[in-house]
Amino acid sequence: MTDKRTKLVQADIGQDKAYGAVTPPLYLSSTYRFQGFETEGEYDYGRGGNPNRDALAKAIAELEGGAGATITASGMAAIDLLTNLLQSDDLIIAPHDCYGGTHRLLTHRQKQGRFHVEFVDQNDPDALKTALAKNPKLVLIETPSNPLMRLVDIKAISAAAKGVSALIAVDNTFLSPARQLPLSLGADFVIHSTTKYLNGHSDVVGGCIVSKSAETAEEIAWWANCTGVTGSPFDSYQTLRGLRTLFARMDAAESSAMAIAKWLKKQKKVSHVYYPGLRSDPGHKLMKQQQSGPGAMISFELAGGQEAVKAVLENIELFQLAESLGGVESLICHPASMTHRGMEESAREIAGIKDNLLRLSVGIEAQDDLIAALKHIFALI
Ligand SMILES: Cc1ncc(COP(=O)(O)O)c(C=O)c1O
Repeated sequence: MTDKRTKLVQADIGQDKAYGAVTPPLYLSSTYRFQGFETEGEYDYGRGGNPNRDALAKAIAELEGGAGATITASGMAAIDLLTNLLQSDDLIIAPHDCYGGTHRLLTHRQKQGRFHVEFVDQNDPDALKTALAKNPKLVLIETPSNPLMRLVDIKAISAAAKGVSALIAVDNTFLSPARQLPLSLGADFVIHSTTKYLNGHSDVVGGCIVSKSAETAEEIAWWANCTGVTGSPFDSYQTLRGLRTLFARMDAAESSAMAIAKWLKKQKKVSHVYYPGLRSDPGHKLMKQQQSGPGAMISFELAGGQEAVKAVLENIELFQLAESLGGVESLICHPASMTHRGMEESAREIAGIKDNLLRLSVGIEAQDDLIAALKHIFALI
């Protein structure tokens, strides 16, 4: 059993010793019986360890090629957990166009004096060089970026960051390990909002940190137990259930996303399409190098401005007007007023997130139906 798809489908299957259940049972117990005086069993207390959480962590760590993973209550909890490795005078270099919630978290933790943070355009070699010269402790990468689908070179940035002994963490939420493996490109950590592609059914909020080394995996697990940010057994159970179909879901969604991006590109009512799968996209060449496919997220700018934006968002069929991404159902969102409203307007401007920008999370519905829904709404605006 060497293929990752096979391993993933089979994760923790047929292991139940009590009744021979094929799918793993759900262990909700918060506490576990000691075998005797001073003799713990494999588990003692649910904050620190749980069989469902461990099975999920093992499956994700294997997919990403890491030594271990910690499952958290959300993607933000995972990012915050990672910052426990920093002291108050340490510096984080983060992308200027990262997810709005990440921007807000790092900005406010800096205000509290937890660490220093600089938001940098990691595609600007001079800006990156200047930032690395300040000897950061951690370089956070998010590629493709949310929502502008900008790609940065994980291998090159990791090599440069290693040169100043910085740790490198990559937020792999937008692609999942089905399309990108940051640890193999030099990163030390991979972060996920498992809420997205890994769970894939928009019914769990969760996160994880995968560590390349066993030592840091242990350190992160220690902090997760200490601060109490570990994910719940039920969420872990659900997420592993969703994770089994990751590759099949990604294949279907990506194929529709490619067709939709090509269609959008031809529309006069669209002034710009952001999708690295398009040959015309500035990230296309890098996409071919570091990803095994372009993924299923697309952003585009409408030529018609605010009125067209409102008409599309309020009348489009099939695509739900909602935040989040990576589920089997298709979603549409307006980053400026939704996912990225936590970012100051000036920061959004610097990142290039305009008011006429829309983001699609393409699901696994029939491709023709998705394109028909877009055609229908475009005829009305
Ligand atoms: C790229 C990225 N990272 C992290 C997060 C935060 O994850 P969560 O919502 O699970 O806390 C999100 C959420 O949208 C995201 O898009």
